[in-house]
Amino acid sequence: MLPFLTMKSIPHILASAPVIEAKKQKLIEQCLKLKEKKIIPSLKVILVGDNPASLIYTRNKKKFCEEIGAECEIIKLPASLSEKDFISEVKKIADNKLVHGCFVQLPLPTQLSHIDVGQLIPAEKDVDGFHAQNLYELMKGASTKSFLPPCTPKGIMTLLKFYEIPISGKNIVIVGRSMIVGKPLMLLLTQRDATVTLCHSKTKNLTEITKKADIVVTAIGRANFFTKEYFSPGQIVIDVGINKDKHDKLCGDVDFENVSPMVAHITPVPGGVGPLTILTLVRNLLQASNKI
Ligand code: GUN
Repeated sequence: MLPFLTMKSIPHILASAPVIEAKKQKLIEQCLKLKEKKIIPSLKVILVGDNPASLIYTRNKKKFCEEIGAECEIIKLPASLSEKDFISEVKKIADNKLVHGCFVQLPLPTQLSHIDVGQLIPAEKDVDGFHAQNLYELMKGASTKSFLPPCTPKGIMTLLKFYEIPISGKNIVIVGRSMIVGKPLMLLLTQRDATVTLCHSKTKNLTEITKKADIVVTAIGRANFFTKEYFSPGQIVIDVGINKDKHDKLCGDVDFENVSPMVAHITPVPGGVGPLTILTLVRNLLQASNKI
């Protein structure tokens, strides 16, 4: 007789909505518990200039904070702000005892883009997970309950866990070596015993490398760049890109129409990784609110 299989079947499209739905109630309850202790979780978002994508992202972050009962204020600063004024403004906000978490939405205008924002906000309020202390804990492989992990990589780990996608021993290829996604994700996956290959713009024979992976993560920020030549049947594709295509429509780094029929599982854009970044941000805010 065949053994009874209890394995949940993984859907073809790995949407974030069921993940958010499953986690949201717990966040609402955690927020209520904090309020019973007279702690109102408060997030400050520092937004410099009026980059249209940043305006949308920060609005979505504020909306989710408010849906779970936390406070969120978007502090808009002029694009022409000097370095001195920017640093003093961020420090003033971060030093406020009533603020539990804060972050600077990236990208910054050119005159500020060299500033290491991760060091302006103390580690315990650094809900983006960019501070050296948080990065060190990540490097050490500490539990993400004990420090503030970077939002998008941790969101991807949450997605993989929710859909019961095995990681241990798998060959995972990440394309994109950014500080926000590629590098920290490599560390989180390695900690879970995956064999990770980190590819980038200078990688030779990229298609040969991506085709051999069990899981491919794309994080390069180029609309519909990855067509089916990069993939093989049975693979899992996690698309981190949020771009606009030539018709001004939101799309990922992966050409979804072209690639989706070929691979086993794929995240959509929108409705994939993006909302999980926000989920982690709010989790980090509650974690920070509990510590202060
Ligand atoms: N811009 C795009 N993604 C992010 C992010 O995760 N954090 C911040 N601060 N800015 C971003």
